[in-house]
Amino acid sequence: MKAMASTPLLSVEGLRVSGRRDGRTFPVIEEVSFEIQPGRLLALVGESGCGKSLTAAAILGLLPWGFAVDRGRIILEGQEVLGLSRTDWRCLRRRLVGAVFQNPLSALNPSLPIWRQVVEAAQLSFGLDGRAARARALELLEIVGVPEAESRLDDYPHQFSGGMRQRVAIGLALACDPRLLVADEPTTSLDLITQAEILRLLQRLQHERGLAILFITHDLSLVAEYADDVLVMYAGRTVESGGVRPFLDGPLHPYSHALLGAIPRLEAPEVRLTDIEGVPPSPFDYPPACRFAPRCLQAIARCRSEDPPRVGDEGHWAYCHRPCGPEGA
Ligand SMILES: Nc1ncnc2c1ncn2[C@@H]1O[C@H](COP(=O)(O)OP(=O)(O)OP(=O)(O)O)[C@@H](O)[C@H]1O
Ligand code: SF4
Ligand SMILES: [Mg+2]
Repeated sequence: MKAMASTPLLSVEGLRVSGRRDGRTFPVIEEVSFEIQPGRLLALVGESGCGKSLTAAAILGLLPWGFAVDRGRIILEGQEVLGLSRTDWRCLRRRLVGAVFQNPLSALNPSLPIWRQVVEAAQLSFGLDGRAARARALELLEIVGVPEAESRLDDYPHQFSGGMRQRVAIGLALACDPRLLVADEPTTSLDLITQAEILRLLQRLQHERGLAILFITHDLSLVAEYADDVLVMYAGRTVESGGVRPFLDGPLHPYSHALLGAIPRLEAPEVRLTDIEGVPPSPFDYPPACRFAPRCLQAIARCRSEDPPRVGDEGHWAYCHRPCGPEGA
């Protein structure tokens, strides 16, 4: 990622999240490190099961039962959060971090009118009375572009389309004016036009409010269009990170190279798409040294016995024994 003078809003250092199975503790994500500056969108990408949502859940303090952070640091606006009491962490999170998930219904209560839910966190944080809370709900729905917002305040979630529900969920995430928005596949369940509308909304919030966004996606074409920085994960580890331009122009890691080669390009339909043979390993069965080695066409013996070194520079780096050159792997 680009080195910048400003202090990162979020800094994750050497994060490890472990789970338990059959009485044994095993690391699911390891040595994950990244920063997000205010006003930037970092895209976290990788195949299903590589640990994107667990990384987000660790940052949100919402890990599923049986999982815990057992190594590393999470620093939010200069404050180390892992040492905080549960209550202090919850207060800090409510004030600084908003979250949006793939299914907006998971964030919305079907039995409450939306104005009540949109401002619930703000009422808890700022003690708004009924009239002020309703006014704040209206303001939030207008910010996220719900048409005729005043007449929709008393509606229930089922009365909104999928795209409008996601706007409402984003309004809810913005209720306490967070500095960081964690968006875990917020558009995966939407049609392409609605997806573009929601992403433009996030981009507007990022630019107008200086919001930092951690955007989780499978879709590298969205990364090309909306991200400032990229972090690629594979089998629970970070394999590549950098500014979006250098990443797209010259991915260093063979895994990133293969992911980019799998995107169809309208302007070059004759270009053959690549696919990656095999499937990612399960956390109970991570291979030694480079975890991508069993699927990597560039693999050599050292890849299976020695941890790959970090290559590249501060603005764009990867962990690999045989990084791709300018012409690709
Ligand atoms: N609640 C859970 N219980 C058991 N295992 C889990 C749970 N949540 C995640 N895991 C396991 O942890 C690993 C990482 O999962 P995670 O959900 O972070 O992947 P992901 O990259 O977000 O995948 P996807 O793109 O499919 O959402 C996977 O092997 C997954 O099976
Ligand atoms: S370290 Fe070796 S196996 Fe791993 S990605 Fe690089 S070349 Fe492939
Ligand atoms: Mg996920």
